[in-house]
Amino acid sequence: NNKRKPLVAGNWKMNGNRSLVTAFNDAFENNAVDNVDVVICPPALYLSAFSTQAFALGGQDVSHLDNGAHTGDLSADMLCELGCKYAIVGHSERRDDHGESNSLVAEKAKKSIASGLTPIICVGESLDIRESGQVESFIGEQLDALVNGLTVEELSKSVLAYEPVWAIGTGKTASPEQAQDVHEFIRGYFAKVDAELAQGLRILYGGSVKADNAKTLFAQQDVDGGLIGGASLKTEDFISICQAAN
Ligand code: G3P
Repeated sequence: NNKRKPLVAGNWKMNGNRSLVTAFNDAFENNAVDNVDVVICPPALYLSAFSTQAFALGGQDVSHLDNGAHTGDLSADMLCELGCKYAIVGHSERRDDHGESNSLVAEKAKKSIASGLTPIICVGESLDIRESGQVESFIGEQLDALVNGLTVEELSKSVLAYEPVWAIGTGKTASPEQAQDVHEFIRGYFAKVDAELAQGLRILYGGSVKADNAKTLFAQQDVDGGLIGGASLKTEDFISICQAAN
C-alpha cells in the first residue's frame, strides 16, 4: 500500500522459557519471512539464548538513564551489547504497572535512539476514553510529549505502535476501520510536524492480532504491521502473522 517496509514484532511479555527460545530458533531457520522486518522481544534474560539471524531482537523496556546505581533497570547500551536492534517503550502495561508518564516514555525513546536502538513507542486509549469520545485528544497528548522531547530526526528513527488498551489480551480486536481511523489520525498528527517524517513513519497495530485477522488489519492504508502479544508465543501463529504482512 506504500513504500514503508512492514514490521511485525512479538512481545512475549513475562512469558516463555528456554525451550520456547529453541522453538523459535528452529522454526525461523526453516521458514524465512520475506520483505518484512521481524522482531522478537523476549524477557531480557533470554536474549542471549537466541541464535538465529532470521529475526531481530528487542527489549520490552529500557531505562532512560546511563549505566549506574539503578537497581533492576536495564540500559540501552546493555540491550545493544546483547544484540538488540529495537526496544519497546511506553507499553500500556509499563504505563499502568510502573506509572510511566508520557514524558518518561519520550525520554526512553530518546535514550534508545542515542544508543542505536529503534524504539517502538506505544500509544493507545482505555475503554473509558473511547466511550467518552476522547480518543484523539488522549492520543494527541501522548504524541505531544514525543514531539516535545524528540527532534524530527529522532522521530524518523522511531516506530509507533497503536495499542488500544481494551483490545490487549482480551480477544477483542479493533475492527480494521477503527484501527485505520486512529492510524490515520496519528500519521496526520505527524504530518503537521513534518510531511516527510509522517510519510515514512511505520505505525504498527497491537491488540489481539491473530493469524486469522492479521491480513485485513495489515491491509489498511496506514497500518504498517503489528505488535503481537499472545499470538507471538506460538511459532506457527507468529510466522503466519509475519507472512500476512508481506
Ligand atoms: O504488545 C502487544 C500487546 O500488548 C498485544 O497483546 O495479547 O492482545 O496480542 P495481545
